[in-house]
Formats: sequence, structure tokens, C-alpha cells
Amino acid sequence: MAGVTNVAFRLLCRELEKEKTGTTSGLYVCEMVTARALVERNEKTLHMTTFAPEETPRSLQLYTTDPTWTFEAARMIANENLADHIDMNFGCPVPKVTRRGGGAALPFKRRLFGNIVAAAVRGVEGTNIPITVKMRTGIDDDHLTYLDAGAIAAAEGAQAVALHARTAAQRYSGTADWNHIGELKEHLSDTGVPVLGNGDIFKATDAAHMMNQTGCDGVVVGRGCLGRPWLFAELSAALHGQPLPKQPTFAQVCTIIVRHTRLLAAHSGESTACRDIRKHMGWYLRGYPAGSELRQKIMQISSITELTHILDTAMADPTVATALPNDADGARGRQGSAKAVTLPDGWLNDPDDRTVPVGADIMHSGG
Ligand SMILES: Cc1cc2nc3c(=O)[nH]c(=O)nc-3n(C[C@H](O)[C@H](O)[C@H](O)COP(=O)(O)O)c2cc1C
Repeated sequence: MAGVTNVAFRLLCRELEKEKTGTTSGLYVCEMVTARALVERNEKTLHMTTFAPEETPRSLQLYTTDPTWTFEAARMIANENLADHIDMNFGCPVPKVTRRGGGAALPFKRRLFGNIVAAAVRGVEGTNIPITVKMRTGIDDDHLTYLDAGAIAAAEGAQAVALHARTAAQRYSGTADWNHIGELKEHLSDTGVPVLGNGDIFKATDAAHMMNQTGCDGVVVGRGCLGRPWLFAELSAALHGQPLPKQPTFAQVCTIIVRHTRLLAAHSGESTACRDIRKHMGWYLRGYPAGSELRQKIMQISSITELTHILDTAMADPTVATALPNDADGARGRQGSAKAVTLPDGWLNDPDDRTVPVGADIMHSGG
């Protein structure tokens, strides 16, 4: 997830999964990077593809709209051993992306979409790097693309398809329609290509429900892990039939916040870490007895020493330190409301047009 799943956050999730379940069975995907920026060796992009030595497999997500850049990026990843898995993101609903034909707008152009997947598969030829695809159900209810796109991705050599069961028009609003995940699973059953379901997994039981309801082969988690890096430990325990780990107390969450900040500092330096951790605070503290004064203080930290001092002071009160969260495993993160999708002029006229959209390969955020 853009702005979230950098090496620090991934390591934290892995550590917590390992600590609570004894394994790391989750696949923790890097923040999305633009294929073109990677090939052009943009410094920020290269920094975003940092993996820690203990991360196996290294999973990198590409945002891409152009078969040529896609091929070059996949070949670069293979030749330079930059990752062990490449996912491609066709789920972004942000207007500045769809307006140019990128993100969730792209699978509507089925030939172009197929050419992009094929280019990635060709780029990693001769290696064991699997190519997978992540997409939404379509542009809107009148332009659903997931069944065609899933079949095309499978035919072009994608080794799994993940479906966020919302249209681009829905953004993150309402509920994901898991029936579409079941339909895609059915549709791809002859191909043997696994289908991963995505949308509204906020607690361990949600994953089991989605898998039972849809028959999907695995789940993808988005907003549920914001401020809850231990969610993967819960999912892993639930899916392996182990007892669920206990919800962390406020004191335990504080330890996790400090660990997160230290990992961020190791990746980007202390002052960037202290800025970056702020956006996680609302998510971390949700449901815990953390008053506005505490939140305010944390939002102003400029060093890890300051952060630990603030949290230690809050934990001095034993009723606060041992508090368990209240309603912390419900929906969290972006929600927003449904809106018409902005598309390039004439975008819907010809689904077979394979012209690469102009200017769509420039970076954005989100999925
Ligand atoms: C802050 C944020 C950043 C995201 N960044 C990405 C991204 O880089 N790549 C991607 O495929 N999806 C991205 N997504 C979408 C999620 O992966 C996921 O598809 C979506 O949130 C629906 O799943 P959920 O209901 O579990 O949140 C992002 C979502 C959020 C909220």
C-alpha cells in the first residue's frame, strides 16, 4: 500500500506474525512503484524498493500502463535480482490516474491490458519470478471488467489474480461485493490460476468467511492492517487453526509504535521517521484510551526519545497501560463516497483499442 507498506512496516508485520504464530506465511507487498520510474532509476523509487535481508519472498508491486516500460521494468527486476515476485496494480480509482486511462480504467482496454501482462511475463522469462495481477471489478456497474480481465491475465501467464470486489466508481465506499470474487473463481476454474479475494477484511474471521463464501484461494488485506500490523498474526493463526493471539494492550501497542518508528528511522532517518509515524497514530490509537492531548503531543515529536517519553508518561497510569481496545477491529481507513469515474475522452468507445494512453505512466498513490 502506497505510503504504508515500506520495508519498516513490512518487517514489523512479519516480526509480529513470527512472534505470535512461529511462522511468516504472509506475503508482504512493497509499496507500489511506477514501472517507468524504476527503469529510469528514479532515486526515490529505488529507495522504495528496499527489502530487508530477512524478507523472503521479496514482493514488488508495479503501477504500469505501457507494455514497453512494463517489459523493461520486469527485465530489470529479473536481471538485477530486485524481487522474487511482481504484482501489477490495476486498481487505483484516483481521478488523476483514471483521467489518463491508468489504474482501474485500464482493464477496460482488454487488448492493451493483455499486452501489458504479457510484457511482464516476457520480461521475467527464464526466472522463477511469478507475475500476478490486482484489479477491481470494473469502472462502474455498467462497465464491469473483472471476468474478461481475469481470463486475459490467466491466458497471458499471470500466476494469480487478486480482485478488490468494488468498482472504481465505488472507491472505498459501501461494502465489497464478495459474490464477484466467487464468480471470478468459478470463471477461472479451468485455468487453475488462483484467485485472491480483497475487500473489507478487518479481522481474522472476515478472511475465513470470505474464503468459505467465495472459494477463493487466499485473501489480500488493505485498510485492515493500518495501525494493526498484528492483523497478519491473527489471520495466520486463524487460517492455520491456531488460537487467536490476544488483542494487544495499550502498553503493547506503545511498544509496537516505538518499534515501528525505529524501523522507519533505520530506513529513512530519524526526522523522516518522526514525521511519517504521525499518520499512523490515529490508526494505532483507535479504540484505546488515548486522549486528544496525548495525540497532539505525539503529532509534534521530532525524536524517538521524545516519543518514548510521551508514551512512557501515558503508560504510568496502570489502567491506561493495561487497557484493551474497544471496537478496534471494525472498518478503518479511507471510506469516502461513490463518484462517477473520470476517464479520457472517448475511453469507452473501443475496448479493443490498444493505444497506450498518453501521460498515464506518471506516479500517483493508492489502489
Ligand atoms: C492508503 C492506501 C494505499 C493503498 N495503496 C495501494 C497500492 O499501492 N497498491 C494496491 O494494489 N492497492 C492499494 N490500496 C488498495 C488496497 O490494497 C485494497 O485493495 C483496498 O483498500 C480494499 O481492501 P480493504 O477493504 O482490505 O482495504 C491502497 C489502499 C489504501 C487505503
